[in-house]
Amino acid sequence: MEKLPMLVIYSDSIKYTDDYIYSDYEYEETLVTRKGCDVTARPIKKCLGIRTDRRVGRVGVMLVGWGGNNGSTFTAAVLANKHQLTWNTKNGKMDSNWWGSITQASTVRLGIDEKGNDVHVPMSQLLPMVHPDDLVIDGWDISPLNLAESMARAKVIDYELQQKLKKEMSMMKPRPAIYDPDFIAANQADRATNLIRGTRHEQYLQVRADIKDFRDKNKLDKVIVLWTANTERFCEVIPGVHDTSENLERALRDNNTEISPSTIFAMAAIDENCIYINGSPQNTLVNGVVERAEQRGVFVAGDDFKSGQTKLKSVLVDFLVSAGLKPVSIVSYNHLGNNDGKNLSAPKQFRSKEITKSNVVDDMVQSNEVLYKPGEKPDHVVVIKYVPYVGDSKRAMDEYTSEILLHGTNTIVVHNTCEDSLLAVPLILDLVLLAELFARMAFRDADHSYQSMHAVLSSLAYLLKAPLVPKDAPVINALFRQRAAIENILRAALALPPNNYLGLEHKVP
Ligand code: NAI
Repeated sequence: MEKLPMLVIYSDSIKYTDDYIYSDYEYEETLVTRKGCDVTARPIKKCLGIRTDRRVGRVGVMLVGWGGNNGSTFTAAVLANKHQLTWNTKNGKMDSNWWGSITQASTVRLGIDEKGNDVHVPMSQLLPMVHPDDLVIDGWDISPLNLAESMARAKVIDYELQQKLKKEMSMMKPRPAIYDPDFIAANQADRATNLIRGTRHEQYLQVRADIKDFRDKNKLDKVIVLWTANTERFCEVIPGVHDTSENLERALRDNNTEISPSTIFAMAAIDENCIYINGSPQNTLVNGVVERAEQRGVFVAGDDFKSGQTKLKSVLVDFLVSAGLKPVSIVSYNHLGNNDGKNLSAPKQFRSKEITKSNVVDDMVQSNEVLYKPGEKPDHVVVIKYVPYVGDSKRAMDEYTSEILLHGTNTIVVHNTCEDSLLAVPLILDLVLLAELFARMAFRDADHSYQSMHAVLSSLAYLLKAPLVPKDAPVINALFRQRAAIENILRAALALPPNNYLGLEHKVP
């Protein structure tokens, strides 16, 4: 892919040095006080300094579940784009792209030209980000197949493109991984032959050794570890085990059976100073993990990629509620035939997915007290069925019923063929690139020195179904609000005001 020149801002509020971009930014909010039915509001301002490190360095990504549909498709997409591969299908000659990635294929409204027309630039042009071609990829899988074999098993990539990628991907082999049959569905057992043996603590040490080996061999400045392995059941959160970093470490050494494989990967990543991202629904990031990340100044993000059905839901419900319509029933059916669907056909693993899919409309509902009484929510049901024939082409069918004027009803029915991995892979790329960028940003107010963002990277919420947020912070699910947050943080780092869409140039003389 072509590399874009960086954007340069002319302003007294921005300073460029060889290593940093310094922005003086005025953060504006409105402070609201309620007394009974009375509401008062007061604009407030805070002067912030934002510093972005311009040195991107060499970045590696390690995928847990590398040999899965997402892992193999991600690897194929990075290589296809890097080599600018083309391939023939019955529809003609195709070329590589990163469609579906907000950093690579979406634009941000930068401002207006002299005539007042909007000017957009690719999001990746705003601030220095890793170029996808430069990513070094590695990972683990309980299945021993090399990446070319995994790609063939996944049946996602067109045949001719597979042939072009085969040689390079057959050299890539997942490292042995941590398998605990108690955490993923029993139907996964037949592929689990590429395993790290030993106690949980020994497994943790091996994962740390793997990360070190990858970092050293490839001379990497930063490694990001991302879970795209099977959905685990929720671990049973036990006081004295999962609640603090210290207790978690003790439990790991004691080989406690409620420490899940994903939590072991997260602990190893954090202890190796690597950002850890959870792309699946399970509760890997228990309080002890978050505390460990905070103590060590490492970032974590989760949970569960927001790719198809939920992404649309977080647009549609936002639209309905903000239009003053009242969604009263949301019923979501899915059927899919890939290995993710097979794993989710077991009740405990389905339950993990059901939980992350269920809370995604809460903030939108709570934002409108005209429509909903405190605590009132729409009926919301999620069903997932495994139908092998449809493979990775997940079908998602949703029915949204809303009450409208004078208690009439409006029903919207959506049928969404998702092509699951092709939707998820660009999110993996964005999670890696944006997390890496946010890790290079630091903030300060007038009295303090620069501090990194909070260890829980809630700024990645746009890409995640059940965004993990710092303690006591509100969870935002509404998609455009999440996107605006990313866009406006990047603008703030360039001392640019948030996009306000007032368009007064065209409205007042
Ligand atoms: P997949 O089943 O094709 O791939 C998962 C891989 O993880 C398999 O190769 C499996 O052998 C491996 N694995 C299982 N346990 C492991 C462990 N402990 N350590 C290392 N590897 C392990 O699934 P797919 O389609 O790639 O999805 C991956 C995850 O992403 C699933 O949890 C899914 O729920 C989640 N997800 C996927 C979305 C999508 O594809 N659109 C959207 C949201 C979440």
